[in-house]
Amino acid sequence: MKNKLTVVGAGNVGATVAMRVAEKELADVVIVDVLEGVPAGKALDLAEAAPIERHDAHITGVTNDYSAAQGSDIVVITAGIPRKPGMSRDDLLSTNAGIMKSVVSEIAKVAPNAILIVVTNPLDAMCHVALDTSGFDKTKVIGMAGVLDSARFRTFIAMELNVSVDNTHAFVLGAHGDTMVPLPRYSSVAGIPITELLSAERIEALVERTRKGGGEIVSLLKTGSAYYAPASAAVEMAEAILKDKKKILPCVTYLQGEYGIQNLFIGVPVKLGSAGVEEIIEIMLTPEEHEALQKSAQAVQELVDDLKRLG
Ligand code: NAI
Ligand code: 2OP
Repeated sequence: MKNKLTVVGAGNVGATVAMRVAEKELADVVIVDVLEGVPAGKALDLAEAAPIERHDAHITGVTNDYSAAQGSDIVVITAGIPRKPGMSRDDLLSTNAGIMKSVVSEIAKVAPNAILIVVTNPLDAMCHVALDTSGFDKTKVIGMAGVLDSARFRTFIAMELNVSVDNTHAFVLGAHGDTMVPLPRYSSVAGIPITELLSAERIEALVERTRKGGGEIVSLLKTGSAYYAPASAAVEMAEAILKDKKKILPCVTYLQGEYGIQNLFIGVPVKLGSAGVEEIIEIMLTPEEHEALQKSAQAVQELVDDLKRLG
C-alpha cells in the first residue's frame, strides 16, 4: 500500500482498527503494544485472513519496537488501561497520561509528520497530553469521540423511526462523557430534522441513551468497553485524511477562541483532509446549546487542571 498507519495498543479497539483499515485497503498497518507476542500474533492472524478477505495490505505486529512505525502517515493511539474497581478517576487519568506521554514521545521521533488520532480515555484530556508531548501542530492531533457518539445517536434514531441508518444524520458535540451535547436540531432523516419527526420526550430519551451509550455497552459486556463502533469511527476519520476527502465530521480538536472556548480540546465539527483538521466549522447554536457546550468545556478544563496537579 502507498500509505502506512500505525495502531498503538493491540487490544479490542486497536485490533479492530487494524482489521478494518486492512480490509478497506487504506494502508499497510503496524500494530505496537507492550505485550510480548500479542501484536505479532494478532497481525499474523489478520494477515492470514487476507487471502479470504482479498486484500493486499501488509500487517505487522511488534512489541515496543517503534522503528516499525517509521514514516507512518497516521497513528491511532488506543494504548491505555480501563478503569478497574477501586481505581479513582485520578488514577486512570495519571496512568493513561503516563502511557500517552511514553507512546507519543516515541512516535514523534519516528513519524514526525504523522497525524495522531487519539482514542484512549479520558479522551479530551489525553489529546492535551498528545499535543504537548508531540509538539505537533494542533491540526495534526485529533480526538475520536463525536463520530462514535453521533453514530450511536443515528442508530437510535433509525431504530425509533424504523428507517435505514443510511438516511440518518446526527451531530454530537462537546466532551466525550456525560456532558456531551447531542444536537437534535442538526440531526435529520433524509434531510428532515428529527424535531419534525419525533416528540420532544422521545428525542430527550434518545439523547439520554446516546449520552450513556458507552456505559450501556460496558454494563452488557461486563469485561470491557465498546470496540466495534469505536474502531469504525476512528477508521472513518483515518479514511477521510488518507483520501483527502474534506469530510465534515465531529472531532475533538484544539479550540483557540472558536465557540468562545480557549486553549482546550473539545468536540466540534471540523473538515478532515490530508492536512488533518483543515477547518473548524462554527455552526449557529441556540443559547441553550451554547451553554451546554460551555458546561462540557468546563468539565474538560477540570480534567486538564487535574492533569497539571498530578504532574
Ligand atoms: P484494551 O485493554 O483491549 O487494549 C488496550 C491495549 O493497550 C492493551 O493491549 C495494552 O497492552 C495496551 N497498552 C497499555 N499500555 C501500553 C503502552 N505503554 N504502549 C503500548 N500499548 C499499551 O482496551 P480497548 O477496549 O482497546 O480500549 C483502549 C482505550 O480506548 C481505552 O482507554 C478506552 O477507554 C478507550 N476508548 C475510547 C473510545 C472513544 O470514544 N474515544 C471508545 C472506546 C474505547
Ligand atoms: C465508549 O464510549 C468507552 O469511551 C468508550 O464506548
